[in-house]
Amino acid sequence: MDNPINRAPLFAALDAEAAVALRASMSEVRARKGQVFFVEGEPGDRLYVIAEGKVTLGHSASDGRETLLAVLGPGEMFGELSLFDPGRRTATATALTDAVVLGLGRDSLRPWLTGRPEVAEKLLQALAQRLRRTEDAMADLVFSDVPGRVAKALLELSDKFGVFRDGELFVEHDMTQEELAQLVGASRETVNKALAEFVNRAWLRVEQRSVTILDVERLQRRAK
Ligand code: CMP
Repeated sequence: MDNPINRAPLFAALDAEAAVALRASMSEVRARKGQVFFVEGEPGDRLYVIAEGKVTLGHSASDGRETLLAVLGPGEMFGELSLFDPGRRTATATALTDAVVLGLGRDSLRPWLTGRPEVAEKLLQALAQRLRRTEDAMADLVFSDVPGRVAKALLELSDKFGVFRDGELFVEHDMTQEELAQLVGASRETVNKALAEFVNRAWLRVEQRSVTILDVERLQRRAK
């Protein structure tokens, strides 16, 4: 069966035998929805790979406003920044749903980095992709309007969590409207208005903690 952790950057370069060995050096953490893995500002030296469920990475601004930097799902990793560059956690990681994650400490990772350069290469690639996405998101905050950012966020969520059902793209994101607004970097009112406009145009249906995208093409055009 296709196991999502095999797509994780840590495992992607490894054959089955090596993946089993690496997996054996990782510790499994089972978290309930809402459980916090670590808090922004605390020291850390472990990275985590999500095996099941969803995890949010949140940031509190000095004025108390909360933003969500990302919502991650199976096969994605978090916590690697403090592992590679010892220091404080740059975000708070929280289980958005019940989740299972695999943790790996620095000492256990080091032999893999030196012994299997292809593992290091995949991790660098994942870091580079994340940096690119962060730069894109910063540009969007300056140059895109809120409906454009909502459209883009929904499409990104659909890439990660979307499944086709009866010809419709069902995206269970598990976020409240407040959390969706924090991810987009706008107020709940403005995000709701954008969603209502998309619903009105029959581009999507909004359900509790999910959306169904009916017109991907139009949404893509709006996200540009
Ligand atoms: P670390 O700083 O150890 O702990 C918080 C983690 O959140 C960080 O490592 C990254 O794995 C992750 N993270 C921080 N910023 C972003 C971002 N903009 N997008 C996705 N993940 C992020």
